[in-house]
Amino acid sequence: MTQADSPSTLGTTIDYDANGYDYQQYWQGRDYELWAEDRALRRLVPRLGAYRWFVDLGGAFGRNSGYYLPNADRAVILDYSATNLTNAARRHPEAVASGRLGLVRCDLNAIPFADLAFDSGMVIRVLHHLSDVDGALAEMGRIVRSSWLVDVPIKHHLLGLVRGAATGRLRQIRSAEPLITGASDEKYFNFQLDAVRDRLTGIGFQTRLGASANNFRRWESRVPDQVARYARPLVQGMEAATQGLGKGWLGPSQLVLATRVPAVDSPYAPSADESFTDRMACPSCRGALAFSADSATCSPCSRSYPKSGPFWDFV
Ligand SMILES: C[S@@+](CC[C@H](N)C(=O)[O-])C[C@H]1O[C@@H](n2cnc3c(N)ncnc32)[C@H](O)[C@@H]1O
Repeated sequence: MTQADSPSTLGTTIDYDANGYDYQQYWQGRDYELWAEDRALRRLVPRLGAYRWFVDLGGAFGRNSGYYLPNADRAVILDYSATNLTNAARRHPEAVASGRLGLVRCDLNAIPFADLAFDSGMVIRVLHHLSDVDGALAEMGRIVRSSWLVDVPIKHHLLGLVRGAATGRLRQIRSAEPLITGASDEKYFNFQLDAVRDRLTGIGFQTRLGASANNFRRWESRVPDQVARYARPLVQGMEAATQGLGKGWLGPSQLVLATRVPAVDSPYAPSADESFTDRMACPSCRGALAFSADSATCSPCSRSYPKSGPFWDFV
């Protein structure tokens, strides 16, 4: 992965396709993280309420599609990575062929969908890549009519505070500013939870804390395999107990349920044969798009966007 320059003034976007990287491999040997997130998402996605259209923002290869695809009339994965979207198509050939699952390559700072296009959505493990989180939250929230699940990587989790105290950076860890780590070509952003919740409130969403997840992240890689095998039930029990108790402070990944208030009705008349492309709009001017088999063209600004294999490419 490296950071790529975005086409506009949107800053830099992480490039998951650089150097032949395949994000699917990241998950090998991460049984605890998978288990911890599964436990949280199985409980929280149903709390988003009923939805017909669902968006997975930065959804990559569709790792989390099992939580929403079975219940959605239409679902769309938005992601910057062509490799991830190609892998999503390989994992869901029937849903993609039938148009029930749409794959769209775009920057989350400039999304090619009309306002309120989706009833619900999720953004999991993505915010730590976003240099302008306030702008990206507004752009993602714009297309969500009712509720979404926002995974916030916080900097002031218990271990972060201990580290901050040990290194004399406690004030920085507690401040409202994002903490930026990593190399110049691959930066990571961690946030103050209240600052992100305030931003969500400011763009029209009421927030509730859903879970503290991955509270003991990376423990498996720090002990010998045999110890890990015996300790796994204990650590999983601790994770289960602390996903609720640790909300807001314990783990690095805080899952926030955000619901639009006041509620708004969908501006779209329900139609069984509606395609996900019917709700798309030009990311540059929000104009209407005319679709052919291999491209989408904006009538007002004449920009054209290709279909690239299984996905529409708006990068
Ligand atoms: C760590 S992965 C998480 C994927 C998935 N949500 C999951 O939970 O497994 C981060 C994903 O966010 C995507 N991403 C990061 N920044 C983005 C941006 N500005 N626009 C679109 N996608 C972005 C990356 O391409 C990558 O697929």
